[in-house]
Amino acid sequence: MLSCIFLFPISFILFMEFTAIANSNIAIIKYWGKRDEKLILPTNNSISFTMDEQLSTTTTVEFDSNLARDEVILDSKQADEKEFARVHDFLNLVRARARIKIFAHVVSNNTFPKAAGLASSASGFAALAGAASKAAGLNYSEKEISVLARFGSGSATRSVYGGAVEWQKGNAIDGSDSYAIQLSSEKNWKNLRNIIAIIDAEKKKVSSRAGMAETVKTSKLFRHRLEAVGTRFEIVRNAIKNNNFEAMADTIMEDSDDMHACMADTNPPIVYMNETSHKIAKTVRQLNGDSNEKIAAYTFDAGPNANIYTTNPKEVKSLLNEIEGIKKIIECKIGEGIHYSNKHLF
Ligand code: DP6
Repeated sequence: MLSCIFLFPISFILFMEFTAIANSNIAIIKYWGKRDEKLILPTNNSISFTMDEQLSTTTTVEFDSNLARDEVILDSKQADEKEFARVHDFLNLVRARARIKIFAHVVSNNTFPKAAGLASSASGFAALAGAASKAAGLNYSEKEISVLARFGSGSATRSVYGGAVEWQKGNAIDGSDSYAIQLSSEKNWKNLRNIIAIIDAEKKKVSSRAGMAETVKTSKLFRHRLEAVGTRFEIVRNAIKNNNFEAMADTIMEDSDDMHACMADTNPPIVYMNETSHKIAKTVRQLNGDSNEKIAAYTFDAGPNANIYTTNPKEVKSLLNEIEGIKKIIECKIGEGIHYSNKHLF
């Protein structure tokens, strides 16, 4: 019986499809700036909360020796040239690591609009890293998937874990120590919500990648950010360890304001927030000022949409309903990390 096994050629490997689901994450200490653009190594440590399944990407990957090129379908459409190039480059990395030269089918669905400042590249590349590494036969740990996801998009490194997540910038030149770790499980944040106010769901004009490169190159304020962000990081990290939202609310808002100030200080200036975004920020500040507790903290990514972390979603939503220019409100819980499914997309 054993001898039968040796009748198969040694190179015979059966590739199977794998499906991974990853949720997006919204940072509370922001990543904005790279110390190495090729390896996607950040200039500072960052912290995020992973969102629930309302902001998620499901991706199925199968390597298939009958293919003459990679096939990439995103949200039921052929990927455009730019999207295809990013996925293809990422698959090349996976192929190199797995020592295979076979093209792949990739089908990926988002539960929310791509590139609308809701961190679709975070869930997208985390799901792709999980599905592609497994489909290529790489038996990676979560830490290795986190490192791999980073090559697709920096923020994707954090979407591998649920709850509160820290991305350590690392010091190694090859980036081997730059990956995410979980600071606190989603189970510890059952009453925390991110109320997302969608102001504009269109594709953003300046991508995070291009924008942060310009900030690093031209902003003088950015040097100050690098000196100050470490203290904010420690405050938020300690607050998370102690499960204390109030202790980090002001610091979360300060870090978002600081990042957007650096964007404005970039030459030419980058402006993502609009009038409605600023109205929302003011409303949140007033809400905290009027009550004796800090019940909400806003944070804005590379887009006008507002993310408002709060333990009092009802009050925040009723205030948002008064503000003109908000197209949709999503109430997100703190969600889980990457997981896998047998329900494949093809
Ligand atoms: C503002 O991860 O999209 O959301 O690494 O170039 O792909 P690349 O950038 P990306 O940047 C996200 C920036 C941010 C802040 C954050 O998520 O920390």
